[in-house]
Amino acid sequence: MQRREFIRIIGATGSSLTLPIILGACGHAGTIGKHKTTPENRSEDIRLRLISYAILAPNAHNKQPWLIKLQSKQGFLLYVDQERLLPETDPQARQIHISQGTFIEHLDIAAKQFGYRLEINYFPQGMYANNVIENKAVAAFRLHRDHTIQPDPLFAHVVARHSNKRIYDDTAIENSILDDLSTMPLTGETQLQLSNRQRDLQTLPGLMSRAMAIEVSNHHRHMETIKMFRFNDEEVKRYRDGFGIGQTGKSGFSKWLIESLFISRNDASQPGSAFIQQSIDLTKQQAGSARAFGWLTTKGNERLTQVVSGRNYARMNLHTHAIGLAIHPMSQILEEYEDMATLKEEFYQYLKVPKSHTLQMLFRIGYAKPVEHTPRRNINALLI
Ligand SMILES: Cc1cc2nc3c(=O)[nH]c(=O)nc-3n(C[C@H](O)[C@H](O)[C@H](O)COP(=O)(O)O)c2cc1C
Repeated sequence: MQRREFIRIIGATGSSLTLPIILGACGHAGTIGKHKTTPENRSEDIRLRLISYAILAPNAHNKQPWLIKLQSKQGFLLYVDQERLLPETDPQARQIHISQGTFIEHLDIAAKQFGYRLEINYFPQGMYANNVIENKAVAAFRLHRDHTIQPDPLFAHVVARHSNKRIYDDTAIENSILDDLSTMPLTGETQLQLSNRQRDLQTLPGLMSRAMAIEVSNHHRHMETIKMFRFNDEEVKRYRDGFGIGQTGKSGFSKWLIESLFISRNDASQPGSAFIQQSIDLTKQQAGSARAFGWLTTKGNERLTQVVSGRNYARMNLHTHAIGLAIHPMSQILEEYEDMATLKEEFYQYLKVPKSHTLQMLFRIGYAKPVEHTPRRNINALLI
């Protein structure tokens, strides 16, 4: 059936669907585990076994910006994969370093589960500045068998956790749940704030959709996201990175409908494409359905601080999953390019974050059914 013909038929049924409506309003359907790599539990090499859990960590745009150098029997190094950066939307590679931290947290949790203590030596060849990425390891690891090590209960959520980009249900989050979450132990000097105040729930969506409008107003920035957007299952299978419609909760017929009729890589890549306005509208709906917002702030902003923030965010993601909450990072307003500077300053003022501090992660939380997992590449692709 021709594309136009199908649209006409849909129109004739009186549905008159448009993409934002479809994105926002179709029913729930979770298809967990469809694409994500199953941890390679049977690997002989404990390092590979643990790495197969580490790659399931949340990471910016699902770039999977990790390289691993195996050393002596139980040692290995983690590097930033400099072919997998986001120069337009993350020009200082802050989110890329947060994504190193999420990987490390998963690795550490998995090591405990298998009875190992993970010795971590951050930036063993020296830490580099925020305006460069030097060819130096982010961390050197060594595994020590340790029969006294206690498993981390968050391990139970490593495989199932995900970022949930659905429109959330209207069930409020009880204060006691937020109070409990806010006592989650954090590594380093990261501060966690959580809010379900009406004022914040009403104000932040407007600021966040303005941020998305700024992000997509530049063709190169917009294209960086489009490059990582997977428009159909074939692209998912081919690249095994990025994200797509599945993460907004669409599956089955509605997902097929959107992918087949409403969006295509070619259309979305055109300057002025409808996809641009739809991204802004969707951001407003997503943020508008938040039942609480959370943000992680640090006093410093060195590479190590960014990595440690990632460790904390990964724990937050696992912890929310453990108590049945959905979570979704929304980073546009935190980004470091010039066009965002004024709005970012307004945002810092609104949240009363001192200029000397850095907002590392902003996320919404709420209740929603799970979404389809994002894919992961085979870990062989990470080995150097
Ligand atoms: C540093 C960082 C920034 C992120 N920013 C965004 C964002 O702005 N918008 C979004 O939809 N998801 C964001 N995410 C979530 C990623 O898209 C998600 O982790 C990735 O696609 C992998 O999917 P998963 O978390 O479901 O495994 C971010 C994640 C991290 C770690």
